[in-house]
Amino acid sequence: MIKLITIIGARPQIIKAAALSRAIRTKFPNQLKEIIVHTGQHYDENMSQVFFDELGIPAPDYNLNVGSGSHGKQTATMLSGIEEILLKEKPSAIVLYGDTNSTLAGAVAASKIHVPVVHIEAGLRSFSKAMPEEVNRIMCDHVSTLLFSPTETGYNNLIKEGFKPDAQKPYNTDNPKIYHCGDVMYDNSLYFSDIAEKKTSLLEKHKLNVNGFILATIHRNNNTDEPERLNALFKSLYTISNKHQKQVVLPLHPRTAKLLETNLNQQLLQDITASSLFHILPPASFLEMIALEKNAQIVMTDSGGVQKEAFYFEKPCVILRPETEWVELVNCGAAIVADADEKRIGEAFEKLTNNKGLRFPKLYGDGMAAEFICKEIVNCFN
Ligand code: UD1
Repeated sequence: MIKLITIIGARPQIIKAAALSRAIRTKFPNQLKEIIVHTGQHYDENMSQVFFDELGIPAPDYNLNVGSGSHGKQTATMLSGIEEILLKEKPSAIVLYGDTNSTLAGAVAASKIHVPVVHIEAGLRSFSKAMPEEVNRIMCDHVSTLLFSPTETGYNNLIKEGFKPDAQKPYNTDNPKIYHCGDVMYDNSLYFSDIAEKKTSLLEKHKLNVNGFILATIHRNNNTDEPERLNALFKSLYTISNKHQKQVVLPLHPRTAKLLETNLNQQLLQDITASSLFHILPPASFLEMIALEKNAQIVMTDSGGVQKEAFYFEKPCVILRPETEWVELVNCGAAIVADADEKRIGEAFEKLTNNKGLRFPKLYGDGMAAEFICKEIVNCFN
């Protein structure tokens, strides 16, 4: 039996881990044993527990309860907690998702004591090291043994950074293996698509017009912490909503909710709060989010996961960041990078909503990425 330690901590990791946990339970129960460690990076009920409940992930075997803090302190606390668990459990490998501080802590802890790292969502790059996530993903990739990239672009980024496409077994940190395997988030979107609409009532509750509303999310630290950007983003949403009489649904990350009071122009905040078209909601659960994405007219977001889910449900997306790691979305015309720039956001909205010929080709695999990953883990560590 191959023992894996899975590290989760932030909301999107819990969602990604669901796909692999499902594949382990249903297809590899006699070969893989998973021990789940929750770092506690996200701790509010609606940022963490709700995803376990909805996605059917087993309760974590360990919870480090690190909570919020500066990046250094948060990462250091996780690192020492993860190290202790690795020393006790002696797993065959550690499984890490994405690019959060929990990912980085797991990568450093494991590599120092020679536990092989499996990185899921490897190779993605924004080419902006000002983003904490860019640093986290580069560091994690470069101490990994198995690297699973969801996209061809990610796979090619790894080759450009020196990873060899023709590596042969045995694999280790100095001879890592890279794969292009599709996106575990796509596996989940397919799996939960129908369940989501049956189980959520948000659309009826807020009287949302099917295929007629804007779904927006804003949580990146450069958008929330810089008042100029935060104001430009909210002003854009308010202007578009008024001009087109469109409902805006905005499930709000707690970071953004806290900063609205200090960083947003108070008149604008009052106008938005008073507008009957604006629905500012607490963070949505995964099933609620899928139901919203499936029924929106257009998505406007700074989240990587939400950009892709919009695409999976064939909705155009305005990307509220200066760049994206998911460049295929932009290259095929389904998404436009508009940064936090009022003019560009307005133009992108018009362009995407007026284009009847948008294309949504299959760019992220066949919905079986998690099974592929499990098979390769078994192949490597048996
Ligand atoms: C983290 C990830 C980001 C990911 C996001 C998903 C890093 C560097 N960033 O960002 O890549 O897209 O998760 O949501 O790891 N807070 C709460 N309750 C919670 C969690 C957070 O109130 O349960 C508030 C706290 O004020 C906290 C702030 O949100 O300080 C930021 O949380 P943090 O985990 O540091 O980063 P995220 O912005 O969530």
